[in-house]
Amino acid sequence: MSQLIVVGAQWGDEGKGRIVDWASEDAELVVRYNGGHNAGHTLVVDGRTWKLALLPCGLLHGRTGAIGKGVSLDPQALLDEISRVSAQGLHITPDTLWLAEDINLVLPLHRALDVAQESLRGTPVGTTGRGIGPALEDRSGRRALRLCDLAEPDTLEERLDGLLAWHAPLARALGLPAPERAALLAQLQAWGEALLPFAAPVGERLAAAHTRGAHILYEGAQAMMLDTDHGTWPYVTGASTLPAQAAPGSGFGAAARARVLGVVKAYSSRVGNGPFPSEMHGAAGDALRERGGEYGVNTGRPRRCGWIDLALLRQTARLGALDALAVTKLDVLDDQPEISVCTGYRIGGRLHESLPPGIAAQAAAEPVYETLPGWQCDTGRSRRLEDLPMQARKYLERIEAFVGVPIALVSVGAEREALIAPQGAFDL
Ligand code: IMP
Repeated sequence: MSQLIVVGAQWGDEGKGRIVDWASEDAELVVRYNGGHNAGHTLVVDGRTWKLALLPCGLLHGRTGAIGKGVSLDPQALLDEISRVSAQGLHITPDTLWLAEDINLVLPLHRALDVAQESLRGTPVGTTGRGIGPALEDRSGRRALRLCDLAEPDTLEERLDGLLAWHAPLARALGLPAPERAALLAQLQAWGEALLPFAAPVGERLAAAHTRGAHILYEGAQAMMLDTDHGTWPYVTGASTLPAQAAPGSGFGAAARARVLGVVKAYSSRVGNGPFPSEMHGAAGDALRERGGEYGVNTGRPRRCGWIDLALLRQTARLGALDALAVTKLDVLDDQPEISVCTGYRIGGRLHESLPPGIAAQAAAEPVYETLPGWQCDTGRSRRLEDLPMQARKYLERIEAFVGVPIALVSVGAEREALIAPQGAFDL
């Protein structure tokens, strides 16, 4: 198998960057196919910390990175990120980064709208405020600007007028400052100059690489429970986060035949609002957050923390057709005397094996737990499954048995070596 998709199987922040980093060693190309700079990856490489939002993690391995059409691109955010990593010694050139030429743009007016929309909702979604949702609305509304529009001066002006014809009255109605045409046009022209050299026919290049046998890695952003259709709606992101999105989001249909590795944290976390039946409140949740360092990479927000939810995981495994699981941050549970796993829900006195879609039902769902003994020793130096204490192995076996997907990898620390993994990512 020469293609692998790595996707988050919970609400994000499962440590995908770390797993992608490992898999990149065997890949020639690493592709982002969804999300935008609402995503955030922290990677520790040789003691140095890298924070990436739009750039594929594989670039840190000297691999070629591609940002596919399915990504929402804030040009300024990408330029800032490129200068940040350059300052750390990673130089990005059009040979090492391909940017889908028809990628849709996220503009400053989308950011303002994101914040305004949140303030109008009864319960805010808790978005990252990066403008991703409103930019996706413009894409569906066929008003969005694309990178290739910046290469055609007349098209750009015409498209910009169309966009502002919608946004000017909207801004007025919401009490936002009116978007300034001249300033925005100048900004777009400058972004075009800086980014058009990276524009490439990504799908075509992936097809050519695939034909000559290159290993291609697809790096999912956000996670399946934040999928706009199948996540805990409406507390979701604005686009698809399923592995099936790798094909349209990269422009290479054969990505649909890739193997899928679902990344799941040994416990759960969530940023933003929305149902989280296995959330731990009070001191226990706070302790888990501190031990796991659960603060947003992008926004610094404290993440809500709780036990692993196997019932939801079984739902996402089916939805994503997961072939294998990577369990991350197992070491964070090292000090727990007992570990609970959520196996279903009690709603109004009735037992449910899966989380129903109703908003009130989800909010009322009480977790049904199974409790397993903890191991209360350090797993951080384990490099083979046999090195793990028996209780930790039993915990992993319970996850596999309940979800019905084998565990192929386990991470036990932030450093690159703190991983129990098979030889090659493309042999999974
Ligand atoms: P948006 O994607 O900024 O519209 O935010 C929608 C929801 O997705 C919010 O609950 C965010 O906190 C969440 N979200 C978006 N990106 C990420 C991510 O990379 N990790 C975790 N949560 C995310």
